[in-house]
Amino acid sequence: MKKIKKAVFPVAGMGTRFLPATKANPKEMLPVVDKPLIQYAAEEAVAAGIDTLIFVTGRNKRSIEDHFDTAYEMERELEARGKEKMLEILRGILPSSVKCVFIRQSEALGLGHAVLCARPVVNDEPFAVILADDLINFSEKPCLSQMVEVFNYQHCSILGTQVVPKEDVSSYGIVDGTEVKPGLMEVNGIVEKPDVKDAPSTTAVVGRYILTPRIFELLEETERGAGNEIQLTDAIAALLSEQRVLSYNFEGRRFDCGSKLGYLQAQVEFALEHHEVADEFRQYLKELDFLGEDKVVKMASKKRRAK
Ligand code: G1P
Repeated sequence: MKKIKKAVFPVAGMGTRFLPATKANPKEMLPVVDKPLIQYAAEEAVAAGIDTLIFVTGRNKRSIEDHFDTAYEMERELEARGKEKMLEILRGILPSSVKCVFIRQSEALGLGHAVLCARPVVNDEPFAVILADDLINFSEKPCLSQMVEVFNYQHCSILGTQVVPKEDVSSYGIVDGTEVKPGLMEVNGIVEKPDVKDAPSTTAVVGRYILTPRIFELLEETERGAGNEIQLTDAIAALLSEQRVLSYNFEGRRFDCGSKLGYLQAQVEFALEHHEVADEFRQYLKELDFLGEDKVVKMASKKRRAK
């Protein structure tokens, strides 16, 4: 079986949940501390051995291309001013051996359709899909590296999953499976955003996939499903009847950066680990706490009144 060398990043979504921030800027370019979400995703792919990043983009996404391109003017300016450290950051966004490919998804037909747009570049190889707004923090190994390890001995499609609270199942693709060993399940069924009462489990697919290329043929035949979109989940459901698909509960904390609360939580947690700001930021949070709950509540209601 071939190695996983290509990763697809569907980044054509409108990001309406973050308006007005996303009116002219892609949601994938929202920073967590000092790096845009899409860079965390790209770094996770590179750490897992991927050498070709395929971005499926749409309107208003030019800044993603610019982010992964050389910024000559800025480099020259920093060189002239002797700002070596900044230059290093600027040049180190991706290793030079990594290639970026940009494909336009000209119609917003859903995640399944976005993945299908990458077919001409992926061709006949197993590949990864990363949803950049699912940001995953890790202590030992990034999520995709863990999944690639599983792929390298199981040689089949792997879905990155986590158990979610029951009331949240209707926001995810939910799998039904049989445990192979702790954390690893053979998937028997998968359903996109089910009602709580119909959900087969609380194991949710969380923005990381390794898929065999057969998925492309199945996506070609997939009709519009939930939300009137071509769903990747529906094509995976079809794949299940032909090939083995596993779900893997990865280790790491996942932040839903497509939601305001998840994004704010990511900011706090990543700031508390950031080499430049961690100590002072921790101190700041402690001071906030010293205000006591009363005062925080009062400040918040005063602000609301002032609106
Ligand atoms: C997509 C998928 C869903 C998955 C989720 C993970 O949904 O369709 O199956 O569980 O990503 O974040 P979206 O969040 O784009 O609506």
